[in-house]
Amino acid sequence: MQQKISPARSISGSITLPGDKSISHRYAMIASIAEGDSRIRNYSTGADCHSTLDAMRALGVPVEENGTEVTIRGRGLDGLRAPAADLDAGNSGSTIRMLSGILAAQSFPTRIGGDESLSRRPMARIIEPLSRMGANISAREGRFPPLEICGGRLRSIDYTLPVPSAQVKTCVLFAGLYAEGETIVREPVRSRDHTEIALREFGADLRVAAKTIALTGRPTLTGRDLLVPADLSSAAFFVVAALLAPGSRLTIRGVGLNPTRSTLLDFLAGMGAAIRITEVESRNGELAGELLVSSSRVRGGVIEKETTAALIDEIPVLAVLGAASEEGLTIRDAAELRIKETDRISTVAENLHRMGVEAEELPDGLAIPGRQRFHAAELDSFGDHRIAMAFAIAALCADGESLIHGAEAASVSFPEFFETLRSLY
Ligand code: S3P
Repeated sequence: MQQKISPARSISGSITLPGDKSISHRYAMIASIAEGDSRIRNYSTGADCHSTLDAMRALGVPVEENGTEVTIRGRGLDGLRAPAADLDAGNSGSTIRMLSGILAAQSFPTRIGGDESLSRRPMARIIEPLSRMGANISAREGRFPPLEICGGRLRSIDYTLPVPSAQVKTCVLFAGLYAEGETIVREPVRSRDHTEIALREFGADLRVAAKTIALTGRPTLTGRDLLVPADLSSAAFFVVAALLAPGSRLTIRGVGLNPTRSTLLDFLAGMGAAIRITEVESRNGELAGELLVSSSRVRGGVIEKETTAALIDEIPVLAVLGAASEEGLTIRDAAELRIKETDRISTVAENLHRMGVEAEELPDGLAIPGRQRFHAAELDSFGDHRIAMAFAIAALCADGESLIHGAEAASVSFPEFFETLRSLY
């Protein structure tokens, strides 16, 4: 599917966005192994989170959907059933990596794979700790999906993550739910902590001190009534659009503001972006609030070290902002970007070049000079949702109508993206 994007004069209005993808996955997985019913409101509309729901159904968990409200009849820690066929994680790295932690503890074997992009994503990062816990996992070439997981009784471990990854942390903690004793995960950099918050919300005994998490195995998890905040990573596209288009005034309601995710807002504010946060409240342990964004001249800067890890999903759209900023943007320490849904360093650079924007590809990042103009162009999502959406925002600033090929990729996290964007200009 192609989308034509014409330039925007301003981006104004008030929007609510679909539920957070990271939180939705976690609530669905934990609710499935909890005792009793959970009701999850504002569940993500993205295809990725539906891959998780379908996998849970295939594992014998009754899951009902009514619009964006999902009811899950939890089967308890030991209540999952052997699936009749291979599990399909689609495009979703979160589904395969996080769910493998649960699959590794089952008494039946499972095979889990996904689409072509997922089949190229590295899995050694979960195979290693799960094998140490006692699971037997084979993978294509030893490290790519599909995975064949022969689980069973697991041992708790004390594990230091070699890469900063909330998916790997979650995988080990989910496996740790099934192991006797205490599982400890040590992070090199504090990654998003939705799993820790959600596990506590469902009743797990979990202690966090700095970058170390300790979880007691075999808890009784209890079904909950949950409300998912809007996805800040989806909001990021509209925030950048409103900053760039002159005369914009945009309100985004009910957005997740978890401090391990909201580095985006601090970073933008530090560059001079006019973003006001109001109506902050806590829901199921997660902060949410309203964002009011007005067009601003942003300075630009450097994204590196821990900041890179904290902004990893927002880098494609920040690269677009960087090209229009006063001083440009340099992104370093972002080698992980090369193993996302696409190699995002090269897909971002390629689309910028197509728009006549200068950007230098570095082994672990990008160097993008500022004060550049975007020219209308034929752009490509390369099958990556965040690339489709980031370049829709770049196209808003171009000197004519641009075309985005493969725009349907946006539905992986945000099926309503183009419709929402059109409602604002
Ligand atoms: C996610 C963690 C990040 C992120 C992904 C979602 C999560 O991946 O890029 O979109 O929900 O835990 P990594 O764990 O690979 O860094």
